[in-house]
Amino acid sequence: KAPLTVGIAGLGTVGSGTLRALAANAEALALRCGRPIRVVAVSARDRGKDRGLDLSGCRWLDDPLALAADPEVEVVVELIGGSDGPAKALVEAALQAGKPVVTANKALLAHHGTALAQLAEAKGVGLCYEAAVAGGIPVIGLLRDGLAGNRVQRVAGILNGTCNYILTTMRESGREFADVLAEAQALGYAEADPSFDIDGVDAAHKLAILTALAFGCAVDFEAVRVEGIRDIAALDIGFAEELGLRIKLLGVATAEAEGVAQRVEPVMVPLGNPLAAVEGVFNAVLAKGDFVGTIMAEGAGAGERPTASAVVADLAAIARGYRRPVFGVPAAALTRARPVPAEGQ
Ligand code: HSE
Repeated sequence: KAPLTVGIAGLGTVGSGTLRALAANAEALALRCGRPIRVVAVSARDRGKDRGLDLSGCRWLDDPLALAADPEVEVVVELIGGSDGPAKALVEAALQAGKPVVTANKALLAHHGTALAQLAEAKGVGLCYEAAVAGGIPVIGLLRDGLAGNRVQRVAGILNGTCNYILTTMRESGREFADVLAEAQALGYAEADPSFDIDGVDAAHKLAILTALAFGCAVDFEAVRVEGIRDIAALDIGFAEELGLRIKLLGVATAEAEGVAQRVEPVMVPLGNPLAAVEGVFNAVLAKGDFVGTIMAEGAGAGERPTASAVVADLAAIARGYRRPVFGVPAAALTRARPVPAEGQ
């Protein structure tokens, strides 16, 4: 069968990992999808950079926007990042051209998710973003498909690997915040602007996306109350531990009588709570549904290979022809939807 032809914009950590994953597991993917997945074009800032990748089979395009217009490209993968600028222009142009889009861009979706979902659905194409939240953990599919039979009452998660790594390392070593931040940056987990990590903005982007999926309301980043971990000292972590508590940066969305409350903040989590045991760069998402009860998914929330795993899962879904509303309900209903207060709360 003819391959699914892909164009990738952005060859940083995630883009490079995606190419490596597609090459490493090409045979199994072709079998699972009924057709091979082939990257035919790429675009990135620096053509001369050595990424350790064999790009001989792909055309190089200097302008990422050219991927949207390229007749050979069926699916566009946007890994440029940023809520506006070239990433947004590319995603809009690709959807306008009737091409499905895969993106890892949580900032873009947090700010423009509802409008982009409307555009994708009007054009009848997919907008897939498994890699945008919690790296390799398939939380988008879990909330949209796995919990479709539930009324979700609560979503809580450790959504930023950099912060969780910092808090874990501070606790284990007794070192201070600034010292450990530099280490997390060196490991490649942090955002280009690390204040997005430590001030809770990145986690808030991700929470706004999960909230839309879980509660069927429009993506509303502005509604998230945000506090980061900048002011937490090693001493605070030590005192909490003595009291049987572990400090975690949590994103929590709950159904309240007046709507859905969303907040990102450092929380003292009792040691018996499964979220307390999620350490290092790992993320976790805990969801409570009226039929399933409470479930938790845990795994690597950042890094080349886990995030590439999520991008490739989206490509596989497109190759298999899956069609679903971007946020689980049609985008037109999403914009009107008032969050439904959960029963018994
Ligand atoms: N900076 C993010 C994190 C990367 O630390 O979780 C993954 O979104």
